[in-house]
Amino acid sequence: MTKKNTTDGTLKSFETTRAVSLKIVAPFHSEELLVQPFEWVSPCKWHLGHTTWFFDQMVLSLSNKDHKVDPKINFAFNSYYEAFGQRTPRDKRSNLTSPTLVQVMDYRKSIENKVSTLLCSGASPEVERLINLGIHHEKQHQELMLQDLKSVRSLQQEPQPIEGTYSFTAMDQKPLDVSEGLYEIGAPSEGFSYDNESPKHKVYLYESKISGALVTNGEYLEFINAGGYENYSHWLSDGWAWLHQTGNYSPLYWRKQRESKHKDWQEFCLWKGWHPLELDRPVSHINYYEATAYAKWKAARLPLEAELELLNNQTSSVPIEIAQPPAMSQTKSRHDQLWQWTSSDFAAYPRYKPANDATMEYNSKFMCSQKVLRGGSYATPIDHYRPSYRNFYYPHERWMHCGIRLAYDG
Ligand SMILES: [Fe+2]
Repeated sequence: MTKKNTTDGTLKSFETTRAVSLKIVAPFHSEELLVQPFEWVSPCKWHLGHTTWFFDQMVLSLSNKDHKVDPKINFAFNSYYEAFGQRTPRDKRSNLTSPTLVQVMDYRKSIENKVSTLLCSGASPEVERLINLGIHHEKQHQELMLQDLKSVRSLQQEPQPIEGTYSFTAMDQKPLDVSEGLYEIGAPSEGFSYDNESPKHKVYLYESKISGALVTNGEYLEFINAGGYENYSHWLSDGWAWLHQTGNYSPLYWRKQRESKHKDWQEFCLWKGWHPLELDRPVSHINYYEATAYAKWKAARLPLEAELELLNNQTSSVPIEIAQPPAMSQTKSRHDQLWQWTSSDFAAYPRYKPANDATMEYNSKFMCSQKVLRGGSYATPIDHYRPSYRNFYYPHERWMHCGIRLAYDG
């Protein structure tokens, strides 16, 4: 491919990605884009500004020494980059009334014009690499927006289902029998990947069987009904402490209204609102502690991230467009994909070298106390997902689109 074709491809990808972010928020009232009901949720106004700030700060500043990011914008939309100075604390993002949502939309257009002009006039390979990073960063935030909007909507008195058109990852997975031996994992040299997916390296695995299906709501309900949340023997010590600190006894977005006619479990879904628990759908919004406790109760374990990379590399990934809310789609398996907890710590691969510019802060500084999730979810943009993708969260977190896949030792 010539340089010109590559740049054209980047420009198209940039424009499409920016448009998708607006498409995601389009069905929501502006008030829903401003609130932050929990410290871990970011308002969508912030996501829309932050993904734009990324291009402003990482791309435009690098390509033009005279380009200056507005200090107010930098304070509002810098997420966690120490290199770029003071910023709004993560749990206070909704406190910022300036810039307004309208100003954020104008900011988006202004930066989009500058990045498009840069690409049309011939960006250097380094600048183009950063634009591609910005594109994938925005795709990552598109999934975050959907998981944050779910949190916002779930708290409303009578949340209405939403309609929209999204792309979803479709995965038809077969069980995987792993033979004992040496395997190679890590991102291939072609195509986009984050730095933490490299370098390729060898891992030694023992004989195991990786389940083809995710654990369902019905199966998880059996765990609850068997007293799974009351029996310490299933739980890690930190998990048992989390249980007692929070008083949780079910996945997030499950509820049981004890005194009313709603005696049975209900589940909240962004597309359908609150509805009776569907027993054959994969259980979601459980944290690492809950996933581990369930696996132990089933005399199984959570997979290693290397095992899931092998599984996902053998899987056929079928991109599809669903032009209706996925819960109403006929093809169940196509919209049931969830990130899966692994027992692997989020740590550097052997001989890993983080970038030596500001993007060094993107991943490497989070390599402590977090667990890896693999597999992508129905909210992961299809052209953002790849089998080597390593998502990571703290063990207590569960508002993301995550589920459980079990592994069994051979
Ligand atoms: Fe970000």
